[in-house]
Amino acid sequence: MISAKASTRIHAAQLAKSAVLGSTRVSHSPLVLRIGICGACQSQRLFSTTPAAQLRDFFPAKDTQHILTTKPAWPHKGYTMDEMLAVVPAHRKPVGFSEWAAWKLVRVARFWMDLVTGIGKEQQVDKANPTTAVVASKPLTEAQWLVRFVFLESVAGVPGMVGGMLRHLSSLRRMKRDNGWIETLLEESFNERMHLLTFMKMCEPGWFMKTMLIGAQGVFFNALFVAYLLSPRIVHRFVGYLEEEAVHTYTRVLREIDAGQLPRWSDPKFTVPDIAIQVSETMLNTPIRKIPRLTVRRLVQYWNMPEGHRTMKDLILYIRADEAVHRGVNHTLGNLNQNEDPNPFVSEFKDREVPKPALRATGYERSEVI
Ligand SMILES: [Fe+2]
Ligand SMILES: [Fe+2]
Repeated sequence: MISAKASTRIHAAQLAKSAVLGSTRVSHSPLVLRIGICGACQSQRLFSTTPAAQLRDFFPAKDTQHILTTKPAWPHKGYTMDEMLAVVPAHRKPVGFSEWAAWKLVRVARFWMDLVTGIGKEQQVDKANPTTAVVASKPLTEAQWLVRFVFLESVAGVPGMVGGMLRHLSSLRRMKRDNGWIETLLEESFNERMHLLTFMKMCEPGWFMKTMLIGAQGVFFNALFVAYLLSPRIVHRFVGYLEEEAVHTYTRVLREIDAGQLPRWSDPKFTVPDIAIQVSETMLNTPIRKIPRLTVRRLVQYWNMPEGHRTMKDLILYIRADEAVHRGVNHTLGNLNQNEDPNPFVSEFKDREVPKPALRATGYERSEVI
């Protein structure tokens, strides 16, 4: 009888093989993620690992008689290229047992993520510096990266919503001001959901992935709910460590794109608007009439991506900068008095500029911002 671990490895190998050979689908895998790369479809959809005819829009814009468009609740503030390039992987050293435990929990989660996405030993970075080292002897495949992105982004949107919701309820219950935390936390979860939506344009999960997501969300939401009631400070530290991993992941992707190790994503011909054109034309000729054109446009608009900067590398730069913001914000919130301190990221200061969390990997100390 085949062990679960061996089975996972075999299916991960199948995924990787299909990505290289260009088969259409890995339909028998328990990791049924529909990550086959269809050679024929690639000519039409450079930026996809799922054939266009099989894609459907998970969040189609509803066409109604009166509504033209619905704007996002939190428009993205955008970044300069210098700000995005200044982001680096980093690690805040845990202080005390509870922070150490939060960090170890994140490390265990990454171990399982590596296992499930079939990352071999040669694909792993230096174990002595797992959060900052980005060089491995072998790159991941685009298929492996997409599995990782979709799963990570689907769980990354949970903590901000739990924190924001509990602080909202606490404010109502205790009849006290929140001091600006709720908005930032909800915006974080909204931002993570936009990341997920973006990657859903490139890879449609199958039933196994969807089942895993339901299970993971059920466990993660409830665990965070209880943990946030017990110690919101440690939950923010935990999220800070989670975001360290996200910055690490996207930095490594950028490095592999730059090195030409992810040929489809390094293709200079690819630009985000091309996706919109290709998807809409292709989708019009398929039985599925849900055209994601509006949604794709909205994604481009969401980050205010300038003309000439809409490649896969640009997209990852924007997403990595978002993760760096989450990292800096949560490490900072983990340093503050949870009940009394205002949120420095939505405050005006007497004697300093508003802090820039993307550039402060380990967060601001309380004495710097309160
Ligand atoms: Fe994200
Ligand atoms: Fe994040």
